[in-house]
Amino acid sequence: MATAVYAGTFDPVTYGHLDIIKRAGQVFDRLIIATTESHSKNPMFSLAERMDLLRQSVDEIDGNIQVESFTGLLVDFARRKEASVLVRGLRAAGDFDYEFQMAMMNRALAPEIETSFFVTNPSYMFVSSSLIREIAAAGGPLDEFVTPLVRDAIISRLG
Ligand code: COA
Repeated sequence: MATAVYAGTFDPVTYGHLDIIKRAGQVFDRLIIATTESHSKNPMFSLAERMDLLRQSVDEIDGNIQVESFTGLLVDFARRKEASVLVRGLRAAGDFDYEFQMAMMNRALAPEIETSFFVTNPSYMFVSSSLIREIAAAGGPLDEFVTPLVRDAIISRLG
């Protein structure tokens, strides 16, 4: 049984993430969506809120998909979950250097765990959580990028 971990900050989860989750959920027997505190990113949503939004968002997606949090190294979490693959989404060439570096470092830390890249759906190529937060702060429309649940959570957070 192949278990994969798709980790990220998900602050908040976007249609781009959900597209990757949907596709990875069809490829692997079990997909664990993993998120963490991410103090350095100073998230808009707490860890519990991000997990809650993720859980509600993946509820309608088919597959054996779980949402969990972790602390420490991602590869240690993957080992604890007996996962053999780390899933990452690739949007544009700009993502590649950073993703390549992270994949190489994770391989150095845990050679038995593979990183698997899912190329983004072109509709979400330009979507990122920080741009969503920026658009929301400026009162822009969000419906193309996030679910109504996430949109309402952002609007309520921004007051
Ligand atoms: N669609 C839309 N947006 C996408 C996307 C997609 N398919 N794929 C990535 N993104 C965006 C995210 O929204 C996020 O945007 P933002 O930076 O504007 O907020 C950005 O791309 C990447 O962020 P994220 O997915 O959260 O990943 P990250 O690079 O912040 O890494 C962890 C998060 C948790 C995976 C990483 O920090 C980690 O592994 N931490 C544990 C400690 C560890 O093991 N460190 C060693 C790593 S080598």
